[in-house]
Amino acid sequence: MLVKAARSEGRKVGFVPTMGALHVGHISLIEAAVTECDCVVVSIFVNPTQFGPGEDFEKYPRPLEADLDICRKCGVDAVFVPTPEQMYPTENITWVNVEKLTETLCGASRPGHFRGVATVCAKLFNIVGADVAYFGQKDAQQAVVIKRMVADLNIPVDIVVCPTVREESGLAVSSRNKYLTEEQKKDATLIYKSLQNCREMIEAGTTDIGTITTDMRKILSQAPSIQIEYVSIVDAESLQKLDKIIGKVLAAVAVRIGPARLIDNIVVDIK
Ligand code: PAF
Repeated sequence: MLVKAARSEGRKVGFVPTMGALHVGHISLIEAAVTECDCVVVSIFVNPTQFGPGEDFEKYPRPLEADLDICRKCGVDAVFVPTPEQMYPTENITWVNVEKLTETLCGASRPGHFRGVATVCAKLFNIVGADVAYFGQKDAQQAVVIKRMVADLNIPVDIVVCPTVREESGLAVSSRNKYLTEEQKKDATLIYKSLQNCREMIEAGTTDIGTITTDMRKILSQAPSIQIEYVSIVDAESLQKLDKIIGKVLAAVAVRIGPARLIDNIVVDIK
């Protein structure tokens, strides 16, 4: 109703889909929406269909009151907090499967994850009916997948991708940082260090991707607590593997540290 009324009055409606446990990264998306739109909706839904067996669905933090407080303070107009039964009232047998883009990076080790993300985002876009939706660059593959889904399915929503928010140490802000001890958090700063090193190597003219990723792996292995899942440099749009640096590339890292799986990335565009 609120969204319908706002849109019928020609007001621009912004939407920030989240799984809650809101932090400064989410706040930057909400602030962008509040600045650029006349009416802002935030959804809080820990989406079961994007978690695989053995992942952290049950223990994912759900501090609803604190989240609602943040939304109020940021000037959000409405918060949508559905239950799993409301989102999936019957067995879900209709899925949105974005091919190719979901086969690399996180998609390779989290089968079904992006199918769950794309499906819930399509549902949320239909339910909320906003003009523009905001996503974080930290989940780079998610942003590419959602942009493609919206284009392929002609979903009438613009996708805005906002920069990754980092702690002073360089560590990308994530709800999953809560799982880390202080020591593990210190180790986790090597993730961004490896990405910065990658940028420096590319800017200094290194084009061989094997050479760059070997160096990145060396940096990450300075902390024995870090288990590397992938260190990849791919084309920033197709997400396909490259041998040489060419055009706009996405350097992406996924690691496990203790109980947490952490991801981070940078985009490097050498003209
Ligand atoms: O990025 C997230 O928090 C989730 O993947 C999203 C987009 C809210 C879908 O559940």
